[in-house]
Amino acid sequence: MISVEGIDGAGKSTHLPWIKELIERTGRYAWSTREPGGTPLGERLREMLLHESMTPLTETLLMFAARREHCQREIWPRLESGTWVVCDRFTDATYAYQGGGHGVDANRIAEIERATLEGFRPDRTFIFDVPANVGRERLAKGRSLDKFEREELAFFERVRATYLARAAADPQRCHVVDGTRPIAVVRSDLEALLRTP
Ligand code: TMP
Repeated sequence: MISVEGIDGAGKSTHLPWIKELIERTGRYAWSTREPGGTPLGERLREMLLHESMTPLTETLLMFAARREHCQREIWPRLESGTWVVCDRFTDATYAYQGGGHGVDANRIAEIERATLEGFRPDRTFIFDVPANVGRERLAKGRSLDKFEREELAFFERVRATYLARAAADPQRCHVVDGTRPIAVVRSDLEALLRTP
């Protein structure tokens, strides 16, 4: 399983289809999905999470409720049958957004993670990284913003710092990808990373 992370506007949505394509070029099928979401209930929870005000701990619990549903009904059976899964955000996002961004204690998140996922983690995580102001500028173009996207710059700075700290603490699993570079350069970087066992 590969998860793809980063602050809003870091470019993960641009590169996700490329990651799927690279995997499929090697003859394997890759199922792509997203969080919060990925199941009918998860998508309903996503609507609430992205648009309704709630306490940070409630947000954390709902993220993990959606994640448990996603894992048990969709992700785990696919992994067991040998399908690759590419997930647009996963548990690192909860540490970054609810933890770093909204101040939920990381030990508390870890307890909920243990109870919900029983030690399950992605095999690889690509963290797209851009300075918080760059992510914010990219978001400003076009559509209406959700609850998280409307947060202040300092929030995204904390989210980014948490992602980078998690990457530094788990370098075997996490790869930071500099999202400020041209798309073609990022693509070849991803290709090289996916070739590395
Ligand atoms: P997306 O815009 O990348 O689809 O993600 C939806 C938003 O949900 C994004 O702003 C980050 C937020 N989020 C959390 O706050 N915690 C989480 O655990 C996840 C998966 C997403």
